[in-house]
Amino acid sequence: MFAVYADRPDADDPLSALVVGERPDPEVPDGFVAVTVRAASLNMHDVFTLRGVGIKPDQFPMILGCDGAGVLEDGSEVVLHSVVTSPGWLGDETLDPKRTLLTERLQGTFADTVVVPERNVLPKPAGLSFSEAACMGTAWLTAYRMLFVKSGLRPGQTMLVQGASGGVATALVQIGRAAGMRVWVTGRTEEKRDLARSLGAHETFESGARLPDRVDGVFETVGKATWSHTMKSLKPGGIVVCSGATSGDPDAAQLQRLFFLQLRVVGSTMGTRDELRDLLEFLDLAGIKPQIGTELPMTDAEQAFRALVDGDTAGKTVLTH
Ligand SMILES: NC(=O)c1ccc[n+]([C@@H]2O[C@H](COP(=O)([O-])OP(=O)(O)OC[C@H]3O[C@@H](n4cnc5c(N)ncnc54)[C@H](OP(=O)(O)O)[C@@H]3O)[C@@H](O)[C@H]2O)c1
Repeated sequence: MFAVYADRPDADDPLSALVVGERPDPEVPDGFVAVTVRAASLNMHDVFTLRGVGIKPDQFPMILGCDGAGVLEDGSEVVLHSVVTSPGWLGDETLDPKRTLLTERLQGTFADTVVVPERNVLPKPAGLSFSEAACMGTAWLTAYRMLFVKSGLRPGQTMLVQGASGGVATALVQIGRAAGMRVWVTGRTEEKRDLARSLGAHETFESGARLPDRVDGVFETVGKATWSHTMKSLKPGGIVVCSGATSGDPDAAQLQRLFFLQLRVVGSTMGTRDELRDLLEFLDLAGIKPQIGTELPMTDAEQAFRALVDGDTAGKTVLTH
């Protein structure tokens, strides 16, 4: 079948490991379903996979794509939940020490067909297109859990999102605004800050700029490049929710500031199946559509990956099929 895959890990030149080609048709074990993929979205995680981060060398070749939407054999339209638990695991899927994401052990969604455990598909809401639904399983689910499950922020409080144009960042802006937060955003260019304002940010700032006031919570996916600003931007007792570190680990944790101001730093990863169901319901109730900056056929995957690596994005990048 057609597939976009990583044929090997390449830490220095990840795009050289990207292949748009053919992989064997998948088998469907008991308890699994085959989904004909209609759309899938790109995530930074796919670049990490090409680099060999978070995946064992013996798992290559690996079809890329952590999330997507498509059609089951019986014609029902579905959204994928990409957190795959170990057999018998009950409770919060993200806390299973043996859980994996699609593309870590099971093959991903940039293909004609993806095969997943039955419990990893949810009905696609009629109000979302396949492309919109394909944004939900990773970036949007991560943003939902960060804000509504982990942060403890209340409507009326101020949240700062580090980064303006990313998949997680744009989702945070859109759901934060809809939930009644005061949404502040940092972005690296005027164009990216304009995008954040168009999605509902109340105010935007250059990366690292001094803010008019301290904030209740900061939402971090950038890491080293923004960490110092994050720690300086919080009110006493404020919270950082971190789900990524695109620019690497910070040089200094700023522990003095952490204990003296009684700051809290909380990690967050993906979300549960129930949270994905609630996210889909929330989008419908709030009338939100995810910001898709680029939509390309899967055959143009290399162009899409290059833009992601270069930071040339405006929200989610979706590959259609
Ligand atoms: N834990 C999880 O479950 C989970 C789930 C999803 C994503 N993640 C992680 O979260 C991170 C973001 O993912 P994504 O899919 O949203 O990526 P993305 O769409 O490529 O977005 C990258 C974001 O990072 C910002 N950024 C990158 N380098 C920066 C720098 N040097 N200085 C300031 N800002 C910088 C960009 O800000 P500008 O808009 O200003 O360019 C942009 O908002 C990745 O590390 C990813 O692995 C984790």
